Amino acid sequence: MDLFSLFVLVPIFSLVTPSAVCQVQEFVSIDCGGTSNYTDIHTGLAWITDSGIMSHGSPVRVENPNGNKAQYQRRRDFPVDSKKYCYTLSTQERRRYLVRATFQYGSLENGDTYPQFQIYLDATKWATVSISDASRVYVEEMIIRAPSNSISVCMCCATTGSPFISTLELRPLNLSMYATDYEDNFFLKVAARINFGAPSEDAIRYPDDPYDRFWESDLIRRQNYLVGVAPGTERINTTKNIGIGTKECPPVKVMQTAVVGTKGVLSYRLNLEDFPANARAFAYLAEIEDLGKNETRKFKMQQPYMADYSNAVVNIAENANGSYTLYEPSYMNVTLEFVLSFSFVKTRDSTRGPLLNAMEISNYVQIAPKTDKQDSAVVSAFSFTSAQSVEMNEGDPCVPTPWEWLKCSSILPPRITKINLSRRNLKGEIPPELTNMEELMELWLDGNSLTGPLPDMSNLVNLKIVHLENNKLTGPLPSYLGSLPSLQALFIQNNSFIGEIPSGLLSGKLIFNYDGNPGLHKGNKKHFKLIMGISIGVLAVLSISFFASLVLLHNLRRKKAQQKLDEKGISGCIGSKPLTAYSLVRGGNLMNEGTAYYIALSELKEATNDFSKKIGKGSFGSVYYGKMRDGKEVAVKIMTDSSSHGNHQFVTEVALLSRIHHRNLVPLIGYCEEEYQHILVYEYMHNGTLRDHIHGSATKKHLDWLARLRIAEDAAKGLDYLHTGCIPSIIHRDVKTSNILLDINMRAKVSDFGLSRLAEEDLTHISSVARGTVGYLDPEYYANQQLTEKSDVYSFGVVLLELLSGKKAVSSEDYGAEMNIVHWARSLIRKGDVMSIMDPCLVGKVKSESMWRVAEIAMQCVEQHGACRPRMQEIVLAIQDAIKIEKGTENTKAQTLLQIRLVSSHIIIGKNGTAFLSGIYSLAIRAKLSQANSHIQSRPYPHRSKGWVEEPSIAYSSAFRLRLGSSRLN
Ligand SMILES: *[C@@H]1O[C@H](CO)[C@@H](O)[C@H](O)[C@H]1NC(C)=O
Ligand SMILES: *[C@@H]1O[C@H](CO)[C@@H](O)[C@H](O)[C@H]1NC(C)=O
Ligand SMILES: *[C@@H]1O[C@H](CO)[C@@H](O)[C@H](O)[C@H]1NC(C)=O
Repeated sequence: MDLFSLFVLVPIFSLVTPSAVCQVQEFVSIDCGGTSNYTDIHTGLAWITDSGIMSHGSPVRVENPNGNKAQYQRRRDFPVDSKKYCYTLSTQERRRYLVRATFQYGSLENGDTYPQFQIYLDATKWATVSISDASRVYVEEMIIRAPSNSISVCMCCATTGSPFISTLELRPLNLSMYATDYEDNFFLKVAARINFGAPSEDAIRYPDDPYDRFWESDLIRRQNYLVGVAPGTERINTTKNIGIGTKECPPVKVMQTAVVGTKGVLSYRLNLEDFPANARAFAYLAEIEDLGKNETRKFKMQQPYMADYSNAVVNIAENANGSYTLYEPSYMNVTLEFVLSFSFVKTRDSTRGPLLNAMEISNYVQIAPKTDKQDSAVVSAFSFTSAQSVEMNEGDPCVPTPWEWLKCSSILPPRITKINLSRRNLKGEIPPELTNMEELMELWLDGNSLTGPLPDMSNLVNLKIVHLENNKLTGPLPSYLGSLPSLQALFIQNNSFIGEIPSGLLSGKLIFNYDGNPGLHKGNKKHFKLIMGISIGVLAVLSISFFASLVLLHNLRRKKAQQKLDEKGISGCIGSKPLTAYSLVRGGNLMNEGTAYYIALSELKEATNDFSKKIGKGSFGSVYYGKMRDGKEVAVKIMTDSSSHGNHQFVTEVALLSRIHHRNLVPLIGYCEEEYQHILVYEYMHNGTLRDHIHGSATKKHLDWLARLRIAEDAAKGLDYLHTGCIPSIIHRDVKTSNILLDINMRAKVSDFGLSRLAEEDLTHISSVARGTVGYLDPEYYANQQLTEKSDVYSFGVVLLELLSGKKAVSSEDYGAEMNIVHWARSLIRKGDVMSIMDPCLVGKVKSESMWRVAEIAMQCVEQHGACRPRMQEIVLAIQDAIKIEKGTENTKAQTLLQIRLVSSHIIIGKNGTAFLSGIYSLAIRAKLSQANSHIQSRPYPHRSKGWVEEPSIAYSSAFRLRLGSSRLN
């Protein structure tokens, strides 16, 4: 676009959307790392460079930027250290804004790794930015109601590479747009805003959208983004104007395009970052086809796990009161999974298929409390007393990482526990607000030019160490100084204090240095001598009672402080110490309690070659390959949601996990918690995940049936141990093929157990959300949030079905969007058709009885009601059964010992010459089973409703079966 067309364009757009003109003047568009201010020729937006705003980091030219947009030619890289780097943006308190940060990294230079780091909005964790595609522009948008007259956006906590940013944008919104009932406590993080039927891959933004939201094109192709598209989906568009006069005002251009399910179904699947979560979901719909008089477009939404949402019938033109008019159905608070899979299906009486113009999904992000207001006031007051030499950091004083001259507690809201401003050329008085910093433990102000009297410090009951030496402080030493309950050391030498020294300071209980204060003197000596002369006895009594009351007071205050901490839910020892005190915990608790040991971050960095070889990504974080100095190969898992507050929790959980040992559980070797990272170190499993072996590429060696059975047996034993061998029992919550790992001998071990509990701590505001993976999630748990071991059993049933069929748990290619492996397998197995679910590469190589045995137990596992599902122990036995049958040795022995008298009508002849006995309740069995097989007989047959037995095809699949050919029946 040349300058001329820009000149023409701008007035046209201003006509269409008059509000845009005044809006745009309030836009703040920062080109981070940019060299100059300029106007973008594509959008007409004015960009400013951050060179005058951001003094940290360095501008870097982006190698091979994707596209020619000026803002993506350069980025700003920040140092890799423990600090945070913040931009501060002015806002109007209580006005709503869209805040957007974007990241395009460009090509990697030699030896670089892609960066992964975190961004924060004030004290609230916004996102983990994890670059994996150099040319993609990663966009993070947050919709906020400004909590004060400025916000800060901070980059920090890199796990790999260095933090960076490409652009930072602030867009004020109008009046009630994006208002929610929860905005006092939650920001809205945009997870997806999609323009369907988009004309090109470019996002639609300003000037088409006067608020400059990004409407991402549905033509973009990337992993797990808008896949599972139903056949018959067509793109349509119109040039007619669309009435959009409602709340959220999607741009006309977005509404002018849509997709239509010409075969009656529209379906999509996409991953939602940071989900499961509570979300705000909008669909933007407008009828943009001219329907005939006898035509209608009516459809329903189908969500496999949410029956409730399927009832409403949408008829866009009717709902919107006419064609070419916006209708925006919405859910203001709905729980969505990480994998969002939805479909719209036309109703029977509709002549046209469903239509979708755009949609928008945001999740609620709880606003984390900023540092205590009074503490913040003090540190900002210090900034006024400082000459240039105190580098005032931007952002919150404590979160996510404290300013370098502060230490903070880990309680919420954070409190400042240490101020270290030694030799910083401070001038003026010590801020009187200091009196409110109840949690302050250390105050270092020595070597400055501070003047004036001491502020009131009588409330600072936690104060331990005070350095005020080498200043120009004046006035008397207040008497309460001698009775501050925690005070251990007070240094005031080389000042100009005057008057009497409070006697408490001279008691010898604390270190007190007051040299170089000519105006100070000890208590009145004459008086002292007189008393001494009169009665040593009286003095003794007096001083004893004085010390006694001091001790009493001390204890009382301490108790009070302790209570305060307890009320805040922190157990004394850990809550009252700053973060650095964790070394104590490391050495203490853990080493005694388990075998997992603390591994320093530096050691892990070395072992993993700076986290260069990523071998997996689970729901709790990325996993890297590493080799320790002693040659041990390890898998290093960096927990994604490592907030600064969960350290204590983390350490106790690790202690718990490290005590769990079982042959079929992946052993935890060690852990690390440093620089706000939580890292777990596991034994490395050479053969990767079971998922890779069943569903992976053809290069992986095929698992034969016996190998699959062994893996199933191992995994079931591991889970059984978690359920019955641990106290309290552990529910895995995320059993799936990618959490079953194979060691060098192809024996299976279950991984990721116990982590759900860790994760939940970080998600307290949505703790009622069912965790787990779509396709494996127990529907009963999903419905009523009652978590039991039987939820794991359900998931394990799905794993068994995958082993049987070689198919994935969810796959719209295999079963359609609304089906999953359970529905699919159940319908076939009920028909007695186990052959159709069998993995094609097993056909002909498997004994059908062993297959049946597994199919049967799998079906029991995925029973709707947890109570009807077997326990893991029973599953282990069933699988062992199947193994024996498959091996074919012991089984035949057992069969020859069977003596059964039965009614002939209970024999059903199966397809391949196998006969089955049904009607288990009327069977008269006199069986003598060999020892090895005794459990077959002793296991009560599952509690089935009568319906099961009455229908022959079902009985066929589920009743007790014997191979007639080799059995002797009387
Ligand atoms: C860019 O614009 C900003 C804001 O208008 C201004 O403060 C700054 O001085 C400008 N910088 C340059 C290099 O012109
Ligand atoms: C609109 O639809 C027509 C006909 O299907 C197509 O040729 C045209 O490229 C579409 N225009 C846009 C902007 O998508
Ligand atoms: C609708 O009416 C038109 C003409 O009146 C007719 O050609 C068409 O078949 C009708 N369509 C349906 C679905 O009834």
